[in-house]
Amino acid sequence: MAERKLGVLIHGAGWVSTQHIAAFGANPNTEVVAISSLTEADARNRAEESGLDVACYDDYEAALAHEGVDIVSVCTPQHIHADNTIAAAGAGKHIAIEKPAAMTLDEMRAMRDAIGTAGVKTIVSFVLRWNPMFQNCKSLIAGGELGEIYSVETDYQSYQGDWWGGYEQGRRLDTGGSAMLVAGCHAIDTLRWFSAPGEFDAATPVEVFACAGGKRKGTTRQYNPITGQWHEGAPLEYDGLEIALVRFDNGVLGKVSVNFECIQPYTFPVSIFGDAGTIRDNRIYSHENPEQGGWREIPGICPGSSDVTHHPFQAQMDHFVECIVGDVESHCNFENAIATHEIALAAQECYRTNRPVSLPII
Ligand SMILES: NC(=O)c1ccc[n+]([C@@H]2O[C@H](COP(=O)([O-])OP(=O)(O)OC[C@H]3O[C@@H](n4cnc5c(N)ncnc54)[C@H](O)[C@@H]3O)[C@@H](O)[C@H]2O)c1
Repeated sequence: MAERKLGVLIHGAGWVSTQHIAAFGANPNTEVVAISSLTEADARNRAEESGLDVACYDDYEAALAHEGVDIVSVCTPQHIHADNTIAAAGAGKHIAIEKPAAMTLDEMRAMRDAIGTAGVKTIVSFVLRWNPMFQNCKSLIAGGELGEIYSVETDYQSYQGDWWGGYEQGRRLDTGGSAMLVAGCHAIDTLRWFSAPGEFDAATPVEVFACAGGKRKGTTRQYNPITGQWHEGAPLEYDGLEIALVRFDNGVLGKVSVNFECIQPYTFPVSIFGDAGTIRDNRIYSHENPEQGGWREIPGICPGSSDVTHHPFQAQMDHFVECIVGDVESHCNFENAIATHEIALAAQECYRTNRPVSLPII
């Protein structure tokens, strides 16, 4: 237990902030002490809905100067994450950064410099590393149940549309970037996570080749997977389908895709191939279990929804607070998350050149 509770500033009072507020509120070592957003009214509404009587700001610099702020949760749209992070680091705050952490390589370089100079702790919100079923898969890999991993496949399949509050920024080239960057980065990060044998390691990519396609870019007819209805809506400015092949430095080959075009509920399929067994979603195959056709169910909650209330933010933030209190780096800190973003940004380079890209590029 820390001597006093660490104070948290929530910046960006939208959908995902509800879960950051709940998680930091429930952690015994932290409390939310301020909320800032585009308007003070937004911040105030979020505070009231969360049952908090805290200071509310529409001025980020003033909020950073609020007394007792130790941690900043950057929950704004992705195109301002870099500026928000650099300012928080400059103010000496530890930072939880929503994904994607940045839009460009230059932004990532500037963020790395600012975080390094400040010496603050960071976590990038690849929250699926704390999904209970994925944690069980990772333990099975680390325990050698699959033998040596040689291939992993992950897919983010979700029809992103105006049912999502962040869609207006997310759908645009300048503020969303690409399907891989804005949401498929979860699948990329999971690919790296399962491609490394260690319980707290994510694999390092050395080469990427990607293709983009689909039919949705520029079209206004939009599906809502929650209501099952079609309507007119603002178009995606980038391709809705991307498929990338990734070679890791440990020899593992990965295939990762993002699909914003699929007419179906959200799914996040995963396949992990080792030389002694296979995991497909929540089932593990072992040649040692012929009585059930070789497949056994892996216990744990699957990543079956894109709703933020379904994501394990509590476990992620508990881990982050533990890192701050214990003065250790998270396995999911900004430095580690760079490689996940490099894959999404290298994919964009492939679309321009039609050639594979060698990594690192940052
Ligand atoms: N880790 C996850 O699983 C997960 C889930 C959902 C969203 N996200 C990410 O979180 C971020 C926010 O997404 P969201 O769904 O909450 O979006 P949202 O649109 O619901 O919320 C964004 C909030 O930021 C505020 N804002 C916008 N511009 C601002 C500015 N210049 N200064 C201050 N505040 C500003 C908006 O008013 C809004 O309150 C996105 O980057 C998104 O990709 C991550």
